[in-house]
Amino acid sequence: MTKKRVGVLISGRGSNLQALIEACKAPDYPARIVLVISNVPSAQGLLRAEASLVPALTINHQDFASREEFDAALDLALDEAGVELLCNAGFMRLHSNGFVERWRDRHLNIHPSLLPAFKGLHVHTRVLAEGVKITGTTVHFVRPEMDTGPIVAQAAVSVLPGDTPDSLAARVLNAEHRLYPLALRLVASGAVRVDAELVVGMTQPAGQPPLFSPQLDEAL
Ligand code: GRF
Repeated sequence: MTKKRVGVLISGRGSNLQALIEACKAPDYPARIVLVISNVPSAQGLLRAEASLVPALTINHQDFASREEFDAALDLALDEAGVELLCNAGFMRLHSNGFVERWRDRHLNIHPSLLPAFKGLHVHTRVLAEGVKITGTTVHFVRPEMDTGPIVAQAAVSVLPGDTPDSLAARVLNAEHRLYPLALRLVASGAVRVDAELVVGMTQPAGQPPLFSPQLDEAL
């Protein structure tokens, strides 16, 4: 099997990066991570990459005069590494439109809500303030507008009485760590593709549900 060459963009903790690194260890996983780039020199995710012998580098956005120049440096590094598919995993910079277009339909992001609800920051605080009973996480193809784009996969997570933003974030993060590898598998294997701004194709790899239900979540 030819494994797709994946680049991962991070800014911090890198727990989703870790989930992708673990998934890529399976011989039948259709992707391998060939480069991790952080825009933050102190990102914990860089240590995770190093510990797993995954090539990683910092490209600090503060070293560039404009978003376009920063994105051009990203592009250069990604091209040099032969990256075919790009995954944002807690990458906290907006991309220029040119960058988004160059990576169109080859670029994924994970967001800790059931999009299109609760785009943007401070998601769990806002979810609790709205009294929402089911939240979750979404993996989607990247488009110029933040947290929009064709949805590959979602996982639902219950909001429980007494939840705080932190307790809810932890439960959603647990779902993220299962969802991102599943979604990347779907895309890297060619099981799904974008058609008219919707993700179409096979919706689940053998034995894996395309989404998780709150009941499943609580059983785990
Ligand atoms: C995750 O909640 C992800 O959905 C959001 O940023 C967070 C990154 O966490 N985009 P980590 O760096 O992967 O641990």
